[in-house]
Amino acid sequence: MAKIKSVYVCNQCGCTSPKWYGKCPDCGAWNSMQETLSGPEPEPAKRHISPVTSAVPAAEVLSINEIIADEAFRYHTQIGELDRVMGGGIVKGSVTLLSGDPGIGKSTLLLQMCAPLCETGLRVLYVSGEESARQLKLRAQRLGVQAGSLLIASVTQAPTILATIEKQQPDVVMIDSIQTIYMPTLNSSAGTVSQIRECTQLLIACAKAREIPLFLVGHVNKDGAIAGPKIMEHMVDTVLYFEGERHLAFRILRAVKNRFGSTNEIGVFRMGESGLEEVGNPSFEMIAGRPRDVSGSCIACVLEGSRPILAEVQALVCKTNFGTPRRMTTGFDFNRTALLLAVLEKRCGYFFGNLDAYVNVAGGLRLDEPASDLPVALALVSNLIDKPAPYDLAAFGEIGLAGELRSVSQVELRLTEAYRLGFKRFLLPKAAAKQISRPPEDALLIAVDSLRAAFDAAFVQK
Ligand code: TYD
Ligand code: MG
Repeated sequence: MAKIKSVYVCNQCGCTSPKWYGKCPDCGAWNSMQETLSGPEPEPAKRHISPVTSAVPAAEVLSINEIIADEAFRYHTQIGELDRVMGGGIVKGSVTLLSGDPGIGKSTLLLQMCAPLCETGLRVLYVSGEESARQLKLRAQRLGVQAGSLLIASVTQAPTILATIEKQQPDVVMIDSIQTIYMPTLNSSAGTVSQIRECTQLLIACAKAREIPLFLVGHVNKDGAIAGPKIMEHMVDTVLYFEGERHLAFRILRAVKNRFGSTNEIGVFRMGESGLEEVGNPSFEMIAGRPRDVSGSCIACVLEGSRPILAEVQALVCKTNFGTPRRMTTGFDFNRTALLLAVLEKRCGYFFGNLDAYVNVAGGLRLDEPASDLPVALALVSNLIDKPAPYDLAAFGEIGLAGELRSVSQVELRLTEAYRLGFKRFLLPKAAAKQISRPPEDALLIAVDSLRAAFDAAFVQK
């Protein structure tokens, strides 16, 4: 009888090894090798036979002009923020992985999405491996989701799910979560690499064959990466991250991969008493409650996809009590902050060597765009010299290592958004100002080409 052996599988990259390692020999992740029991090896294919035989029928091909892809190709969820992130709606037969920290609202978002889908006459199958049908009902009641065509199944075995899809013929399927689903024929437990890979593959094949949109909820591990094999991200069409501070109300939905739309778009939600609400005017919400005449605050105007959003960057600089000064950032890249501090020191003469520096973006937004360099530098220097930046000033611009200000894209869009919210002074790179054809009459454009000139303009000119 064939022996069952132990193999060790990396839960980050899927690399297998007969021996346990503390560090994966392939991807270098620590503590990622998990024991899996492997059954007998399948018989190797007879390689000497040519794979091309007359018994295998050739696949049918279509000219690209014959393929019909119209608007009916997408389902609209009526949740504007979600549709935008998905590239305009849910594509039939697409597979979406929704991922995020525990308790961020993944189940809530999926369940809320069911209501408008059901209203348009679609049958939605919600498979929950985490909550019982009764618990889901209670949650649905709280969210006000009452639709007869929403079908709930509390199962965890992949073959049962496939049989249920076969029998019920739903139009949309949601699986919450992929880590709880397992194949009884595999020896490993649910949530392991082999189980996730196998179940994902089966479910994707089913969704593609039936043209059913499939949503999979995926957990993240403690480093924030999607738990399970990295290949899962390659297998699906769309990867969405739901993020935000757990204790703040804002939740941001971000597409990190999208085969049917842009990956830059974000959707902003607020978690309230009765579930998630869309935030239609995120700029207004992000800068609400901003302190007046306090140093260390600057308004940034960044672009998230096609949409400009205002955010308040705050900085606090104080004497360090340790040998090495602390640097802490929330919502802004840590290494970028170190780089900006180095530029401020070398090019502008502001020394942070014996000072702790904290940078925070209010509202839970994450600023990835280089255009947020200038507001971060302004906030840091404002707090260092204890001079507030003008209250009606918004800034954007990339900072180079020579202390120069570099241009950014979509300047007019940013300007219009900031002007709409009452900002009258705009600090921007000289090269970017050229993009503006007709600024509003009472707007003051302060176009500068160096960081030093930007500080002179922001803290001297009143
Ligand atoms: P949930 O969707 O269960 O998170 P996930 O599936 O990502 O783990 O969200 C749970 C959190 O949302 C929980 O902390 C409570 C909060 N919440 C509300 O504030 N209001 C609501 O109406 C609901 C349903 C949840
Ligand atoms: Mg959940």
